[in-house]
Parts: sequence; C-alpha cells; structure tokens
Amino acid sequence: MRQNFIEIPTSILQAEGILKFDVFLRSPEGYVLFAAKNVPLEKKVLSGLESVYIKSVYIDESDELFYREYLGKNISKFANDRSLDRDEKSRLMYDAARSVMRGLFEKEDLPEAISDVKVAAEVIMDNVLKDERAFLSLVKALSYDYYTYTHCINVAIYSIGIGKFLGLSLDDLRALALGAALHDVGKCHVDQEVLNKQEKLNDEEFNHIKKHAPFGFDILLDTIGEMDERILSAVRHHHEKLDGSGYPDGIKGEKISTFARIVAVADIFDALNTKRCYKEPMSTFETLAFMKNNMASQLDTNILKSFILCMSGK
Ligand SMILES: [Fe+2]
Repeated sequence: MRQNFIEIPTSILQAEGILKFDVFLRSPEGYVLFAAKNVPLEKKVLSGLESVYIKSVYIDESDELFYREYLGKNISKFANDRSLDRDEKSRLMYDAARSVMRGLFEKEDLPEAISDVKVAAEVIMDNVLKDERAFLSLVKALSYDYYTYTHCINVAIYSIGIGKFLGLSLDDLRALALGAALHDVGKCHVDQEVLNKQEKLNDEEFNHIKKHAPFGFDILLDTIGEMDERILSAVRHHHEKLDGSGYPDGIKGEKISTFARIVAVADIFDALNTKRCYKEPMSTFETLAFMKNNMASQLDTNILKSFILCMSGK
C-alpha cells in the first residue's frame, strides 16, 4: 500500500516523551523511519536533528489524528517555551490551534472539542496580552488557504487583537476569544456539499448556509449549556449589519453587540484576505481599503479603524 507523508516542523516535537505517531526523515532514497511511535523520544536525539539543520520531518498521513491530538495537548507548552523565538512560538501555537479547531468540525464529541477550543483560544489570548508584539507575529503565521477551521482561528486572532486595542477587560477578552473561535460552529450542521460547493450558490443554497448562525447559537445552548450572552451574540449575530441588512435576525445598530461587531469585522477581513478555489486573496492593504470604502454603513467604523491600526502595528 502506498504511504502518504505530511511534512511537519522538527521544532514541534518538543520531546514530550512517547509519541503516538511514527516520525520519518526524507532521504534521496525515500522516507526513513527516524523515531517509532510508542518509544520514548529523547531530547538529545531531536537536538541532533536541529543541529544539522533538519528543519522538517514527516509523519504518515494515517497518523494525522494522533499528531493533531499531540498539538492540541501541547499548545500551552509551546506558549511558555522560553527557548523558542517569538515567530517560532507563534507558528507552533497557530499550528496547534488550527489542529484543535479542525477537531471542532471533525470530532464526534462536540463538548470535548469545544473545551479544547476554549483552551487554545485562551492560550493565544494570554500570549497576545503578555507580549506587545505577539499579535503581528501571529498574523504573520496565519494560513491564507481557506478552510472553515483555519478561518475560525484566524478570526479569533484578529478579534483578540481588536479587543485588546479597544481596552476590553480580561473577562471580556476571554469571552470574545471563545465567541470568535466558535463563530462558525453552526457549519457543523450545514449540508457539507453545499458548504463546499465551488460554483455560485443558488438562493435556496445560500439561505441554507445562512442558517449556520442560528445553528451555532443552538449548538452552544444545547450541547454545552452556554449562557454567556457575549459568546452567544458573537455566534448568532456575526453576519448582522449596522444598517439592518444582515442575517439571521436583521437587527440594526446598537442592537448588535460589540462582540458580534468585532467578529463581523474580523470575519469579513479574513474572508476577503484568504485564498479560495474561485478567487485569489486580496492583499491586506486592499482588503482594509475595500472595507473602509464600501462597508461603512454595515460595519462599526470605530472597530474597523481600530483593526486598521492594529494591523499597521500602532
Ligand atoms: Fe459565518
């Protein structure tokens, strides 16, 4: 049987002892087993690799689930590892958070997946609060290829940046990070064929996709009994527009919470700024200029201005 391999950064293997996946090196002759699963991996063996500039190793695609579990479990460790430089730490945290987020759309056990997302969102938020330059470093690490799970983590990172810039309290920031990370959780209950359709959606299909906002709200209420209005509003109302032209409730102005307005700005920015099969991404500058010039009646301009300042490192 043909094996497929996935490239991973060597630095991600933080010698946590026993790995549940095999690690391979690539040689001119093919892939060679470097460390077998379920056998303790020593730090000096890994340092040996890094000392000869082997920056990438490989895992068998069939072990991807175990690898993702490993990432999710180690996200706090990456965040607190003083031996990593800022950008390396951001890359590891982002990869880990992205894997956790992927679990949200693939795991059977939704409450467990949501609690993993909560940990990842808080680790990222803490990091952005502790380190003045962490936000832009994380933005540099973001993936611009669109998947629902990358989109969710990107939106969480942008929202945390905006929330911090606006001076939200720690408790508000925590709720914002989680609400933003979960804003599209309702897509779990949407027809995946329609969701992944590459051609233009017809009205019926588009109306079906729109239901992800109330679906997400229901998932949070029903599966984890979430009662926090800030989180619920970010999920239900992230597609509402200030002029009332949004969905699902068509509410206007002040009726839309600050949390939903922040997530709306982050959501639209990421959708325009990432690559889709049917479009090339717009640059950061083009996206922000487009939003400022064309969406003033729909988005909170103060929040958009704050986001522009965050993204320019002010
Ligand atoms: Fe959405």
